[in-house]
Amino acid sequence: MIPQSFIQDLLTRVDIVEVIDRHVSLKKQGANYFACCPFHGEKSASFSVSPSKQFYHCFGCGAHGSAIGFLMEYSGLGYVEAIQELARQIGVEVPEERSPRRGDQQKEQSLTELMGSAARFYREQLKGADHAIDYLKRRGLTGQIAARFGIGYAPDGWQSLQKIVPNYADKALLEAGLVIENDQGRRYDRFRDRIMFPIQDSRGNVIAFGGRILDQGEPKYLNSPETPLFEKGRELYGLFQARQSIRASNTVIVVEGYMDVVALAQHGVPNAVATLGTSTTATHIQKLFRHADRVVFCFDGDAAGRKAAWRGLEAALETLNDVKQVAFLFLPDPHDPDTYVREFGAEAFSTQVADATPLTEFLLSELASEADLSSAEGRARYAHEAKPLVLRIGAGVLKLQVLKAIAKRCALDERELMEAWGLKAPPAPAMRRDGEPWRKGKGRRDDAGPPAARGPRHQPRPLEANLLRIVLNHPAWAARLPVDLIPASSDEGRALIAIVDAVSVGDLGNQSALGTLLEHFRNTSHAATLTRMCAEQADEVIDETVVENVFHDTVHALHTKALADEFNRLAARAGELTPDERKRYVQLLQQKKRNPTRQPKVSDS
Ligand code: UTP
Ligand code: MN
Repeated sequence: MIPQSFIQDLLTRVDIVEVIDRHVSLKKQGANYFACCPFHGEKSASFSVSPSKQFYHCFGCGAHGSAIGFLMEYSGLGYVEAIQELARQIGVEVPEERSPRRGDQQKEQSLTELMGSAARFYREQLKGADHAIDYLKRRGLTGQIAARFGIGYAPDGWQSLQKIVPNYADKALLEAGLVIENDQGRRYDRFRDRIMFPIQDSRGNVIAFGGRILDQGEPKYLNSPETPLFEKGRELYGLFQARQSIRASNTVIVVEGYMDVVALAQHGVPNAVATLGTSTTATHIQKLFRHADRVVFCFDGDAAGRKAAWRGLEAALETLNDVKQVAFLFLPDPHDPDTYVREFGAEAFSTQVADATPLTEFLLSELASEADLSSAEGRARYAHEAKPLVLRIGAGVLKLQVLKAIAKRCALDERELMEAWGLKAPPAPAMRRDGEPWRKGKGRRDDAGPPAARGPRHQPRPLEANLLRIVLNHPAWAARLPVDLIPASSDEGRALIAIVDAVSVGDLGNQSALGTLLEHFRNTSHAATLTRMCAEQADEVIDETVVENVFHDTVHALHTKALADEFNRLAARAGELTPDERKRYVQLLQQKKRNPTRQPKVSDS
């Protein structure tokens, strides 16, 4: 656990403009900075960064957040990693609250350093290993690409790694998976006489290796075992190198082999990554969707490839939404991406990627290929097989599209099919007319089917919701709110009270920008309310000159409402009031007479 106070302090010391400008070149315009949004493809600059709010927001896709949030989204870092990165940028050390994981983290750090030294050692060794260099050249790789992927060579000796550690018996070597210990307790290097492909995490740290035998032999690839640093189902080979091009093309290609990734990069297709000898997991896909809206799986055209594709499909179903797409590309037998791109070139490969089969088409055709749609029994069976798959699709509109397509093949209409499956068919007008999700992009998933209807457009917002909006723009104003009068009956009210409390005890520091405020409430029950409000109002143009007035009026309305409530409570018990209560009642009654309808108007935005 990193102490909250450190995070708040960190956020007041970094400047979100600088943090983002390292990755996306920003242009100043008025008080804010703008760029083309790095999270979705676009030509006009709708991505804005506010130095005063320490907050970024894209009008196009709705992505938004603090400097920490930006690094998480942009670089695919975890929360703690993002904090560490920011701390590194301004040269401060992240303190640790004492926690049981402390030992683990130190261990991980020393393992990471060990893996780094091993990677350097293997790279050095490659320079003197002519047969290994020849092998890479024969496979069409230049020194430049080999360097980009940090490719190395593990020499043929049994204990070559002795050169990089003071003590070959150190248990870290075993934990890192770099050595193997036999039954007699004898140790030897796991990787010997192999081409070494380092596997890197999202920060570029080496966390594992894949080692290919030169030419023939078994096993062809030897991989690091799972270690505290390396979990196969989470990591993707080449993601560190491919990130920028993935984002630029808004597409990531997932292939099966190390060599496929490297060869594609060599020939001008830099946005490919590989799973590591495992099938694709939902975690993989979620990770990739953080960088691009389109994931294209590329498999060999053989039976094994189709089987692998089907497993990929199953992993993808839940992660789909109406914006994120998955497609499948089957290369003509006997090609793999490496041989294909070497023979036909990048352009031909990219055409294949562009023409890849959309997931739903693959789903429908695979299902149909095993069914006999000419008989009623066959169609029923087809629907039966399709049901669990369709129900797992995350997206609202997409799910309905697939449902429709299946219904058609079953000679039903979609309502009949939904009924047969025990689903509630939506009333026809519940779908949005344009069939679009409310807001494209990050942080929003319309996975619960049609979005809930919004209230009438001009229904006034509750007072506390209005105040919360204003406070999100001017966090310091929270100190001016009468906290006892804020109703705690709504999410907005509770969030507002929490902000007032945090401000009053000084938890937010004195420079309380929006980004800081949001981070303070990350992982609390208020986080969802706050991010929703930020996203909603980020599109609104707020006229600063009226904000102060609205704030005053709203605070006043809170007082008025509190008095009215008090009066009503007393009036309800009029016969049984104590003398003090009677006095108060009369006082309120007189005020009411003086000011019969003074209910300040609260504007709707
Ligand atoms: P392939 O057998 O398709 O190899 O394995 P490849 O990528 O075409 O390799 P080259 O072109 O012969 O060098 C695909 C992936 O499966 C894993 C590796 O991750 C490999 O990149 N694999 C394969 C292993 O882990 N071990 C093996 O013995 C073979
Ligand atoms: Mn190959």
